[in-house]
Amino acid sequence: MQKTTTIGFIGAGNMAYALISGLCNSGFSATNIKLSDTSKTLLSQRKTKFNLETFTNNAQLAGQCSVIVLAVKPQIIPIVCKEIQANIKHKPLIISIAAGVKSGDINRWLGGNNAIVRTMPNTPALLGAGATGIVANEAVNSEQKNLAEQILDSIGQCFWVQDEAMLDAVTALSGSGPAYFFLMIESMTNAGIALGLDKQIAEKLSIQTALGASMMADQSGNSPHELRAKVTSKNGTTQAAIESFQDQNFEAVVSHAMRAAFDRAREIGFELGDDG
Ligand SMILES: NC(=O)c1ccc[n+]([C@@H]2O[C@H](COP(=O)([O-])OP(=O)(O)OC[C@H]3O[C@@H](n4cnc5c(N)ncnc54)[C@H](OP(=O)(O)O)[C@@H]3O)[C@@H](O)[C@H]2O)c1
Repeated sequence: MQKTTTIGFIGAGNMAYALISGLCNSGFSATNIKLSDTSKTLLSQRKTKFNLETFTNNAQLAGQCSVIVLAVKPQIIPIVCKEIQANIKHKPLIISIAAGVKSGDINRWLGGNNAIVRTMPNTPALLGAGATGIVANEAVNSEQKNLAEQILDSIGQCFWVQDEAMLDAVTALSGSGPAYFFLMIESMTNAGIALGLDKQIAEKLSIQTALGASMMADQSGNSPHELRAKVTSKNGTTQAAIESFQDQNFEAVVSHAMRAAFDRAREIGFELGDDG
């Protein structure tokens, strides 16, 4: 990243916090980060933590940055875009992390002809372990793409998709995905308790098992399918459990759940963009 790159965050909440932490941890200077929010209290907390410049006026921040990250809730995006429209004549790169809001709508609210990268991060970003889908509109040049990638890699791993419609699939998979794993951990904990384990032990065993399984899937060089085959001995305990999952149509349950998330992501996008 160039020393002259100035990144402005609009919205100082959880995701902005994760991104700013990631950038600072990866060596980006906080003197080149600016932050605006409606809450002076939150801005003061962030200033104490990162020693960055803060604003309560989004337009003022926008005028001073080469990259602007829209980190407010989706329904606030149109308001913020209209606020900053007059102050982005220098054509900064716009990065939106808002769920469901289409880049075409953002571009329209910003007055047109803007380089926009739309992303779908997830909450493990708060620990630097995020998975983010990312897509660029046709106005984004290769230097800006690299820049966006570096910013998002600072909170985990980011993956380009070619078609913006695919971000709804990313939302259904990794965006909402952490909650699916939390549900699995909860269910395994409850089942462990039903089998006689102490709650605390059942929960810790579930969490550590999820962590260990993810690490193996990531680092062993084997596919999840191969790993499962390796730990499933014929007539053993794992086989008994896997067969029970399959009898209950586990894959179809997961597939239906992700389809529901995908459909809802598309609906939200249409709801927010129906002013055009
Ligand atoms: N958290 C996630 O897991 C996650 C994952 C993927 C994507 N996202 C997306 O990331 C975005 C931010 O999420 P978040 O969890 O960081 O939200 P958040 O914690 O609520 O942060 C948003 C911040 O923006 C402030 N704000 C409201 N109106 C504003 C305005 N007009 N100008 C400047 N700041 C304003 C809010 O203040 P008030 O609280 O006072 O309104 C709040 O401090 C959302 O669009 C969300 O869809 C989040």
